[in-house]
Amino acid sequence: MTIDGPSGAGKSTVAKCVAARLGFTYIDTGAMYRGIGWLARERGVPFREGPELDALLQDASLAFEEHHDTTRLIVNGEDVTERIRSAEMGMVASDISAIPSVRHWLSALQRSLGERGNTVLEGRDMGTVVFPDADVKLFLTASLEARGGRRAAELCARGEAVALSKIVEDLARRDRNDSSREIAPLRKADDAIEIDTSALTVAEVVDRVMQAVERRRGGRV
Ligand code: DC
Repeated sequence: MTIDGPSGAGKSTVAKCVAARLGFTYIDTGAMYRGIGWLARERGVPFREGPELDALLQDASLAFEEHHDTTRLIVNGEDVTERIRSAEMGMVASDISAIPSVRHWLSALQRSLGERGNTVLEGRDMGTVVFPDADVKLFLTASLEARGGRRAAELCARGEAVALSKIVEDLARRDRNDSSREIAPLRKADDAIEIDTSALTVAEVVDRVMQAVERRRGGRV
C-alpha cells in the first residue's frame, strides 16, 4: 500500500496508524532521502551528479532498526533518527532528491523493502514510480495553511521555535521543488484515492483510508 502527498499533509501520522491497524510494516521513504542528505552534508559531498556522489552512494548503508518500540534510521552505522528531523534537513532532502543517481539508489532499496509485502510505504513517488502496481494507493493533500499549522506544532513539540510564516514559505518552496523536478515529481497516480485532510482529524482520515482499503480488497481486510 502506498501513501503519497506534499509535506505536512499528514502522511506519516496516518501511515503509522494504518500500518498498526493492518499489522503492516511502515516505511518512511522521506527519512531515507533525509538520511542520504545528512550523509552527503557530513562528508562535504556536493549535491550534483559526479564521482564524489557516486562514491558516497557506493559506500552508503541505510537501514531501519527496531529499538524498544521505536524505529531508528541507521546511516553508515550512525543513528541519525533525531538529527534528520529538522526543518533544515527537510530542505536538504528535497534538494538531494532531485538528483537522478540518488533517486535510483533509494528507489532500488525501497523496492527491496516493499517487495516483502504487507507494507505501507509513504513518500512522494511510491504509487507513481516505485510501486506502480500497489494494490491500494492513497494521495493525501491539505491546504498550505493547514499543513503549516501542523508542521509548526510538530517543530514546537521538538523544541524548535520557527515562525509560522517561515514554515509556510519553506513548505511552498518544498512543494515547488518536489513537484517541478524532472525525475519522479510529486503527483497523484491516476488510480490513487485522494483525500483532502485540511478539515479532518487523524482518526477521520485513518477511517477513510481503512474504508478505501476494504473497498479495494473486497472486504478482505
Ligand atoms: O516526507 P519528508 O518531508 O520527510 O521528505 C523529505 C524530502 O524527501 C521531500 O521534500 C522530497 C523527498 N522525497 C522524495 O523525493 N521522494 C520520496 N518518496 C520521499 C521524499
